[in-house]
Amino acid sequence: MTSPVTGTAPGADRPLLEPLALYGAGFAADPHGHYRRLRAQGPLARVRIAPGVDALLVTDYHAAVDLLRDTETFTKDPRAWQAGVPADSPVLPVLGHRPTAAFTDGAVHARYRDAITDTLALIEPHRLRGEVARVAQRLIAAFSGTGTGDLIAQYARRLPLHVFTASLGVPPEDVGRVVRGVGGMMDSEGDAAAAYDDLVGVVSGLVAARRARPGRDLTTALLEHPAGLDDDEAVRQITLILSAGHDPTTNLIGNALLRMLSDSGYGRSLHGGAMTAREAIDDVLWRDPPLANMGAHFPRHDTEFHGVPLRSGQLVLVSFAAANTQSLPALSDSAVRSGDGAHLAWSTGPHRCPAKQSALLMAMTAIEQLTSQLCDLELAVEPDALVWRPGPFHRAPAHLPVRFTPLDTIPVHDGGGAPDDVDHVQIRVGGTPNG
Ligand code: HEM
Repeated sequence: MTSPVTGTAPGADRPLLEPLALYGAGFAADPHGHYRRLRAQGPLARVRIAPGVDALLVTDYHAAVDLLRDTETFTKDPRAWQAGVPADSPVLPVLGHRPTAAFTDGAVHARYRDAITDTLALIEPHRLRGEVARVAQRLIAAFSGTGTGDLIAQYARRLPLHVFTASLGVPPEDVGRVVRGVGGMMDSEGDAAAAYDDLVGVVSGLVAARRARPGRDLTTALLEHPAGLDDDEAVRQITLILSAGHDPTTNLIGNALLRMLSDSGYGRSLHGGAMTAREAIDDVLWRDPPLANMGAHFPRHDTEFHGVPLRSGQLVLVSFAAANTQSLPALSDSAVRSGDGAHLAWSTGPHRCPAKQSALLMAMTAIEQLTSQLCDLELAVEPDALVWRPGPFHRAPAHLPVRFTPLDTIPVHDGGGAPDDVDHVQIRVGGTPNG
């Protein structure tokens, strides 16, 4: 069997390289170069995701699909693995066990997942589109007069969370803490654990408030779901919705905008019949999925998988990005941009993303609003000069500096209010999960 200690290559005699680091500036600057090197080692390769924390990363498309659907061989429960990881490791806020849909199997998973999907199903698409447009218009109005902006800090990072926090009923004064908590978790740097703890603190206050005084929001709907979640379970599922929902949606909007502004086939400007929002989103979902490496699974027992020996409890991650790009050469550009074929950006199997349609709707609406209002947007720096956020899990530009012709005024169709009032946007839910 392969041993990280002896360094013998899985299923082959060649010596294993030192695990490639999937964190830090080197990885952020060239993830696809890293994936190419890893793919050359076979369907799975050893990687280092934080100092002292190694994993096997699946880079082969078919192996990825097999793993994500194989609930007999693999569990989502990380606790056996976690026992050997330093308690202060920056990856634990993302990978460490919590009683949520993301870390459970079978009936327990089904109970949490049903509560989440039934609750999210209460968001009516036309209301979601309207609310995203309303938030978008106010965010755009806040910087459209200046002629410059950072589309991440001033738009993509603010928009999903304003929609989520409003629909969950998070008080406006706590929105900033939620943003910092979710962002800090995913960066997997020094203060990730503190960021997660603070996020749990905010959400615990919200759950306590809604237990005492139900509202017309998704938190109340989750608490009233027939699954009968207790307070801690509800806090953990809401934290999962926020962390699983906000950061990838921000990154989907950011990556797709970058694609539209920098794709050589479409020019650097949005003037004159550019790539549509949907084309850019599909392109990004194939080539730069917002959750690049995730899908943590752990073998239930020693086994062999696609010719690679695995130890019980070992961390196996799926590179959605590497698996997707492996299958790209077989596809035409138009197939990629029209979403034909099956990329893994939403994962597959029982833990696939339950919010694909809402996330797509949010991203499309956000991009359409921006590009229709600031129609001569262009990048203010060369694409090569962009800085990407660190961390092994996500693909995310840290900033997206742009310039455009300043607007004198911008229409806001909802009756006014200052830009900061986006905190008060409400998603009205259309009834309880049972009726
Ligand atoms: C409305 C926004 C979103 C919400 C509320 C949301 C929510 C969730 C939840 C609750 C899960 C865990 C499901 C389970 O374990 O059974 C999940 C998983 C996942 N989501 Fe989403 N998500 C959103 C947006 C996105 C976006 C934009 C992407 C990327 C394109 C994405 C990709 C994924 C992937 C790849 C997984 C599986 C993660 C894993 O295997 O560990 N999600 N999502």
